Amino acid sequence: MHERTKEIYTPEGGPPQGGRPPTELLVAMGEPGVFALLSDFYKRLGTSELGDMFPKDPEALEEASKKSAAFFVQVLGGRPLFSTYVGPPRMRMRHFPFEIDASARLTWLFHFEETVDQSVSAGSFPSEHQASFVAFLHGFSAWMVNVDPALES
Ligand code: HEM
Repeated sequence: MHERTKEIYTPEGGPPQGGRPPTELLVAMGEPGVFALLSDFYKRLGTSELGDMFPKDPEALEEASKKSAAFFVQVLGGRPLFSTYVGPPRMRMRHFPFEIDASARLTWLFHFEETVDQSVSAGSFPSEHQASFVAFLHGFSAWMVNVDPALES
């Protein structure tokens, strides 16, 4: 794991204000559908420009995707899988070890949106919930940024 070199920056917008994506999305996809979505997303991340941030070993990458899936099940109003198996969400704090600047966020969002698009085409993500899910990702990911835009390389 790499060491942080830049001090922690807090986005001016503060914590996400938007609501959560609808629980109907979870009902439609089921927990296995959410785990499959995050598995696809992490495989993409692993080979993306952000690949160095994520585990190189495919099994470790899959495990990392399961933690994120557990969070999304919980955020979608499902079972509290993340709190039960990982701990208190505190998402921003959990991202502090990684230097996330505005451009890393946009890359992350791009790959998530591509993954969702592909799942919609494959019929495994209900298109009527795509816009609200993506809106949630936009709002929440802004709060994960922890590098001052002025210091962006
Ligand atoms: C909607 C916004 C986001 C959500 C819901 C989210 C969710 C999560 C969750 C649940 C974890 C696991 C935390 C843990 O292991 O304790 C995680 C880890 C991580 N996230 Fe995010 N994340 C978001 C945005 C981002 C962004 C924008 C980046 C970088 C561009 C990022 C990079 C990472 C990395 C590198 C890890 C560690 C992976 C590992 O386990 O090795 N995340 N994220």
